Amino acid sequence: MVTEPWWKSAVIYQIYPRSFCDSTGNGVGDLEGIINHLEHLSWLGVDAIWLSPVFTSPMVDHGYDVSNYCDIDPLFGDLDTFDRLVARCHEHGIRVILDWVPNHSSDQHPWFVDSRSSRDSAKRDWYIWRDGTPDSPPNNWQAEFPAGPAWAWDETTQAWYLHMFAPEQPDLNWANPEVREAMHATLRFWLDRGVDGFRMDVVHAIGKPDGLPDREQGPGQPLTEFDNAVTHDYLKDIRAVLDEYDGDRMAVGEVYLLDSFRVATYYGDNDELHLSFNFLPLWTRWEAEPWRKQIEVAIEAFDSIDAWTTWVLSNHDVPRHRSRYGGDERTARAAAVLLLCLRGTPFLYAGEELGLLDADVPPELSQDPAGKRDGCRAPIPWDSTETHGWVRPDNWLPFPPESETRNAETQHADPASMANLYREIITARRDSPALQLGSIELLPSPNGVLVFERRNGDDRRLVIVNMGNDQADISGLIDGWEVQLRTEAERDAPPDNHIPARCAEILRPSF
Ligand code: GLC
Repeated sequence: MVTEPWWKSAVIYQIYPRSFCDSTGNGVGDLEGIINHLEHLSWLGVDAIWLSPVFTSPMVDHGYDVSNYCDIDPLFGDLDTFDRLVARCHEHGIRVILDWVPNHSSDQHPWFVDSRSSRDSAKRDWYIWRDGTPDSPPNNWQAEFPAGPAWAWDETTQAWYLHMFAPEQPDLNWANPEVREAMHATLRFWLDRGVDGFRMDVVHAIGKPDGLPDREQGPGQPLTEFDNAVTHDYLKDIRAVLDEYDGDRMAVGEVYLLDSFRVATYYGDNDELHLSFNFLPLWTRWEAEPWRKQIEVAIEAFDSIDAWTTWVLSNHDVPRHRSRYGGDERTARAAAVLLLCLRGTPFLYAGEELGLLDADVPPELSQDPAGKRDGCRAPIPWDSTETHGWVRPDNWLPFPPESETRNAETQHADPASMANLYREIITARRDSPALQLGSIELLPSPNGVLVFERRNGDDRRLVIVNMGNDQADISGLIDGWEVQLRTEAERDAPPDNHIPARCAEILRPSF
């Protein structure tokens, strides 16, 4: 029997460390805070955690600006604490994935400090420098944030350097083999310490087009929509580093291309990324027809080349999906079934299992260099006390709404809570080869409803998600099936052959 790698059947849980739990009283979450809450993750049943960056950083972009790829920032702890975290996770059967930021470093990284010190620096060519005059950037590229050119003028050496994000995040020059070697060494550093894989930040952008030509960059076409052949060569080398190690070390790429077919090319011939995010579904409105289309596209784009896709509804860069879908808890409950039952690896974002809404963060409290991602980064409320399980009531960002009643402690105790629903779905998934690894077939369904069957050998599950605002007649669809799990209690007495509005269920064969 061929055994599948762990990351295909896994449920992966993203932790934004600043927001998970503080153990020191400085108002910012840390590694010890994560260790203190591993029981929650174990209870929930997740297979792996992905930590947003915990490396040494001036924190201009909260860790996505790395000044030492081989150490832990003191804000989060130290290497000993990290090793303890990995060991404790592994004891719980939870794998650990780090967030590797290969496209750019911090401007405080010794490599860049050296690079900008002189045109003769041995590290000059480790970043992307261009000659010119201060009034005219080398091309028309725009930074993701803040608004403006993707080039900063350096007074000392009278030249421009490229930064696709903030000026404090200069782009590394992957065309230089020394840079590639140095970055591979940072992977090995963590692989040697036992990490199980990496989430690779904007990894599709590491290869730059020859000559850096101007690009047409309309609204909705972010700078990160890079797609250059050379990136695939770099990814093959990166994959080879992971393959030096046993234990199925995994790479999931943040390939920010809003085209599933182009995303699929980053799996290579099973010699580039193991997994990639596919962000189109995340940006799809909560309606059955557009979602059906996205699922069909994913099947065609990924299954046809034997690539394993991923599903994600929330992360640290976008408003939480419950907020995006209008704030209704019923919809968020139905979304949990969809996310966890589609064919592919689901990624949860810490707090979605509590049904958190985005926090309301007034502009004067905003911490985000892009000025729009604070709401989803609010601290996780662990209990009903004033500090919600943190050391202080006031932390780097305010708590989300309803924290007095919507927190981990109250939800563990309430069998009808969102957290218990996530736990039940994850348990159902773990017990079903069909839900974990099976094929998927979309079935004809009434308006507003998605119906699909998952199948793996003898194991079968039917999944019905009513995305509409009306109850739907599903007679004819459910003959031979019985309900295993449903998202709403009122389903205990449904009208025959109907599914209520904004409700989802998992069914199993009735004989
Ligand atoms: C990715 C991260 C985002 C960060 C950016 C720059 O998109 O998810 O949080 O700001 O890369 O590193």
